[in-house]
Amino acid sequence: MDPERARWVGSGLPPRLRGLTFTDLREHAEQADALKRTKIYVDGFAAQQDLNWRHAPKSPHLYGRGMLFAGTPGTGKTTLAATALCEIRRRWGASVYMTRYSDHIDRERQILRPDRATDEETLSRLTYAVDRVYEAQVVLLDDIGHEHSSASGFAEDRLEKILRGRYDIGRPTLLTSNLSGSDWEQRYSRPLRSFVDQCCRRIVMVGASLRTPE
Ligand SMILES: Nc1ncnc2c1ncn2[C@@H]1O[C@H](COP(=O)(O)OP(=O)(O)O)[C@@H](O)[C@H]1O
Ligand SMILES: [Mg+2]
Repeated sequence: MDPERARWVGSGLPPRLRGLTFTDLREHAEQADALKRTKIYVDGFAAQQDLNWRHAPKSPHLYGRGMLFAGTPGTGKTTLAATALCEIRRRWGASVYMTRYSDHIDRERQILRPDRATDEETLSRLTYAVDRVYEAQVVLLDDIGHEHSSASGFAEDRLEKILRGRYDIGRPTLLTSNLSGSDWEQRYSRPLRSFVDQCCRRIVMVGASLRTPE
């Protein structure tokens, strides 16, 4: 296999987002602030995750912090978040994984309730993908709030489990979402929203959609 391709297999990144760097992004005035703050985060990533001789974080209030990219559709959240993920991997050698949150939830559901189509190979593929979300050093969960919401609150509980579990062991999570602050509280919960503010820097993306009409 071509080494560049092999490098990204298992990362969950769709081919068009693999290996993006900040210089690949076109500068849009409306995104200047978001871009600047994302670059600062990537520059400071190693220092943020640094441990002292006792293996305790040197900066406990920063350790394990991720980013939440919030804003309306088409403002470039997924692109900027995926670029940050690729840059962290390229610059700092961190293991990374990306998935749409709805796909992750579908996989967790399928593992819990396998149907006839779930043969052993499928199950091991699903388990690998789900494990990466808990174990990769940095994870990008794309499009929070687009997953199917059930009466049991499964997707909402899982998000809390992932974010708290990862934060406790100092693994940053990057999120993108179209939800506004009050949508978050309604859909998830007020405690989860306030926890997200603790474990993620909020980067608000503004402006008109960059998506070019067909
Ligand atoms: N910095 C940028 N320069 C040029 N095009 C961009 C940039 N950021 C995003 N785009 C394009 O704009 C569209 C929407 O971006 P996307 O990241 O999917 O937005 P969102 O996740 O906020 O809906 C995509 O086609 C993407 O390729
Ligand atoms: Mg998106």
